[in-house]
Amino acid sequence: MKVGVLSGGGDAPGINAVFRAIVRKGIQNYGYEIVGIRDGWRGLLEGEFLPLNLNTVSGILPRGGSILGTSRTNPFKREKGPETILENAEKTGIDAVVVIGGDDTLSVAYKMGDFGLKCVGIPKTIDNDLAGTDYTFGFNTAVAIATEALDRLHTTAEAHNRVIILEVMGRYTGHIALEAGLAGGADVILIPEKPFDIDEVCEYIRRRQERGRNFSLIVVAEGAKPKSGKEIVYSESIDEFGHISLGGVGYFLGKEIEKCTGIETRVVVLGHLQRGGSPTAFDRILATRFGIAAIDLVHEGKFGRMVAIQGNKIVSVPLKDVVGKRKTVDLELYEIANVFFG
Ligand code: F6P
Repeated sequence: MKVGVLSGGGDAPGINAVFRAIVRKGIQNYGYEIVGIRDGWRGLLEGEFLPLNLNTVSGILPRGGSILGTSRTNPFKREKGPETILENAEKTGIDAVVVIGGDDTLSVAYKMGDFGLKCVGIPKTIDNDLAGTDYTFGFNTAVAIATEALDRLHTTAEAHNRVIILEVMGRYTGHIALEAGLAGGADVILIPEKPFDIDEVCEYIRRRQERGRNFSLIVVAEGAKPKSGKEIVYSESIDEFGHISLGGVGYFLGKEIEKCTGIETRVVVLGHLQRGGSPTAFDRILATRFGIAAIDLVHEGKFGRMVAIQGNKIVSVPLKDVVGKRKTVDLELYEIANVFFG
């Protein structure tokens, strides 16, 4: 049996740990051949592969990025894309593909099932917004980095009596903003699930001033929007899955806050620091468990499914129940964070 493995979409710390687990168990326990597919679906479309063996995956457990690269290629946007993928899989002798991705990449895996490609999915995105799983790998690392950033911003905000806004990733959901905000003691957390009222934000800051706290830390997810407006777009260009590039809500907020409170305000956009570098221990373990579970599913012939973590158990769910859905933040957790606003 020859098993292909690819990772598509934005990278997330832990991808290499998944490859390592698939290769180790696939070769040692099942006697499979494992083929790496370059740059997500692009590699299957254009026939670019890298055979993986025990040595190629040695030493990659703590490494960020992806040794196979990644891309946002959508085969369904290419002329005869799905057919070309099948042809290339057949030519290379690939019997099944383990697909690591967020909603876009996994929805291609689901649709390719109808064309006869045997796929198993693994949930990956720092945004943690995939349905069917409590966690995606990469999220814990992003939260750790954003929390450390908040700790550092705290001391300088306090020293200068400033408002500092930390803009974090989270296109449609505020998981990173909420968890990092809670862990880092943010004074206000703004997320896409709850459009914000700028007067209310300013009121929290004033409330702190009344208590003699002349500085404030705000965490905002890039997809958060004012009650009376839309999300703020960084660039109008649209990727192959139809997404625009978000970013800039922090600067919008900064100006508004300076206007209404008169307090000097600074903005930090954390950006790709959240995605780069070494995964946390939690993400290394989760990525490893996902990789092992995925190759086990292949061995059991259970295709069209995604591995997931529910509670602390690794399970699998049908891809059809997951794609096109979105896991939003737990509003009870937001209520807890709310106790500390202002
Ligand atoms: O991986 C998802 C994500 O982190 C989103 O939160 C963000 O909007 C997007 O990636 C940005 O990715 P890129 O800069 O690679 O287009």
